[in-house]
Amino acid sequence: MLSLVVLISGGGSNLRALLEASQDAEFPARVVAVGADRPADGLIHAEEYGVPTFSVAMSNFADRDAWADELLTQVLAWNPDLVVLSGFMKLLPPTFVAALAPNLINTHPAYLPEFPGAHAVRDAIEAGVAETGASVIVVDNGVDSGPIISQERVPVKPGDTEATLHERIKPVERRLVIQAVLDIANSHITLKDI
Ligand code: GRF
Repeated sequence: MLSLVVLISGGGSNLRALLEASQDAEFPARVVAVGADRPADGLIHAEEYGVPTFSVAMSNFADRDAWADELLTQVLAWNPDLVVLSGFMKLLPPTFVAALAPNLINTHPAYLPEFPGAHAVRDAIEAGVAETGASVIVVDNGVDSGPIISQERVPVKPGDTEATLHERIKPVERRLVIQAVLDIANSHITLKDI
């Protein structure tokens, strides 16, 4: 059984999908804790499923490294096999990544390496592309630049806003991240070989 810690910053719809998947006795992973960098709305999903939560706000620390050290301490306290960034909107310093790599994955609402960064959906709209996508990657020290585990194209429709496009992308992200967790848990994927 793969132990997951999920880190979020927002509404946590991808987190909820993992929580729902892990209700299935056949699903080979369990969310053992959920962390956030702020009092994220999505923490309510963890509470609903009785999963412990923690929040480490950068504003309580002198700098990014001190914040990340505390976040890492709280993540490691749960002894996770895999940490999933799911709508986590902070860049993590190399010390954090090195402590977990390669067992640190991220979902991104674009077909990487297209549109990396915090505004991928808006950037796709502004670029006027006919399609974008969703990706699951292994986190490295760059911005959404790590090895790609899986990705899938998502069409952009005429009149799409950032919100309507993002809502079309998220279900694809959810499916990809659940499949990635399954493949990792079943050793169909070996993260160090990606
Ligand atoms: C997801 O699309 C994630 O990839 C991006 O922000 C969104 C968060 O959605 N970084 P949610 O919080 O899982 O609903």
